Amino acid sequence: VKPGMTNKVNGLMGHHTSRRGDGKRFRCGEGRMKILVIGSGGREHALAWKIAQSSRVDKVVVAPGNGGICRSFDCADVGTDDVGGLVSLAEGGGFDLVVVGPEGPLVQGLADALAEKRIRVFGPSRRAAEIEGSKRFAKEFMARHGIPTAAFDAAGSPEAARKIVRRLGVPVVVKADGLAAGKGVVVAGTLAEADTAIAAMMVEKVFGKAADCVVIEECLRGREASFMAVTDGTSILPLETAQDHKRVGDGDTGPNTGGMGAFSPAPGIGRALFAEVQETVLKKAVAGLQKEGRPFLGVLYAGLMLTAAGPRVLEFNARFGDPETQPVLMRLESDLVDLMSAAVDGSLARSKAVWKSDPAVCVVAAAKGYPARPETGQTIEGLDEAARWPQTVVFHGGTRAASGGAIVTSGGRVLGVTSLGKDLAEARQRAYGAIAQIRYDGMHYRHDIGLLSRGEAE
Ligand code: AMP
Ligand code: GLY
Repeated sequence: VKPGMTNKVNGLMGHHTSRRGDGKRFRCGEGRMKILVIGSGGREHALAWKIAQSSRVDKVVVAPGNGGICRSFDCADVGTDDVGGLVSLAEGGGFDLVVVGPEGPLVQGLADALAEKRIRVFGPSRRAAEIEGSKRFAKEFMARHGIPTAAFDAAGSPEAARKIVRRLGVPVVVKADGLAAGKGVVVAGTLAEADTAIAAMMVEKVFGKAADCVVIEECLRGREASFMAVTDGTSILPLETAQDHKRVGDGDTGPNTGGMGAFSPAPGIGRALFAEVQETVLKKAVAGLQKEGRPFLGVLYAGLMLTAAGPRVLEFNARFGDPETQPVLMRLESDLVDLMSAAVDGSLARSKAVWKSDPAVCVVAAAKGYPARPETGQTIEGLDEAARWPQTVVFHGGTRAASGGAIVTSGGRVLGVTSLGKDLAEARQRAYGAIAQIRYDGMHYRHDIGLLSRGEAE
């Protein structure tokens, strides 16, 4: 563990210190927790930021972290794919809880390996994480449990895949079965496009073994929304909704990315629709996984298409969304560690979450060439100026500390500038005001994050 300036983050962290200082939320025997957060993106920066505000937490360590995270927290130089190294770190460091951010280590079985050592972990087992790790498993699981989703078929050869495409007709969606960092999905408008996608995935193997099998799906139309819930395997505690912006360009143009921004709450979701999704998607999935001997502990994420015929699941994730987590956690009033601990202890049924009614907007600043070939190593300026905007936090994704204290770009999604406001307009004004202070070579971001299409109320 290399030393950092522990527990101090720009912007809203001042709030944290004063709240800890008055001691009123400090309950007997609950303080002094040491928490290890695994990951290096904007989501993990937001998780560490929120976890550090807990009255129960004494120390937050992040592995491996990034340029922004390691300015504020101690970081350990262990990569997210090094399951053995992470288990040793968690064991040796005496952590009371390990929070796993990304899907990679979950699908590899990190939570199982930690549980074997009796280390408390917030994150699903390898078998439960298969709901994200295999799209084929997820689709067949949804079919078994009557969870609404697009019509589909799975194929293990290019010939079989081309046949299914012709049976379903275009437009059609071609998906790599395994993990592909959000890039293994092609929405094909023509047969030629579908065939090209099948060839790239199954013959050229651009995603390696992740596309040994593909899922072919009916193309759905509607607005997308992200739903997340904390679960202990039996009960669920819904988080506030968010909308992600997946395409790289303004007006939803260009290729899909990991997410160019998000805002919370997602628009157009009234009480009835919210309750419908909890019942027909999240509760059903948690109960189904339990029934199949794969109890899910952690955050279950459902990416939905809100179609004219009702909500349909596009994908499940076995973890918090990135960038949805950044605006959602800025809106959470409750102590996140209370919720995570309740999930680990199996007592989530007694938990409640309190939310700020103010919406939040997260605008992602990407690197030149993202998503195809992001260029790295550019010096970032204006971070401190950006963080001075009210109710704003600059979460770091692909950044690292360079010599002399500079922060340079090190990945495709560089920063997630996130602001709260009394309404979406104010949250947008702050996030865009703040991001305009930041400069690096090739920086680009969308200008329409949190903009509602005409006719939609907030
Ligand atoms: P996924 O990783 O499965 O969520 O897919 C990534 C993105 O592709 C989604 O966020 C949608 O924008 C799009 N997509 C996936 N499945 C479908 C579908 N069945 N119909 C239309 N668009 C889809
Ligand atoms: N923002 C979508 C995801 O986290 O997969």
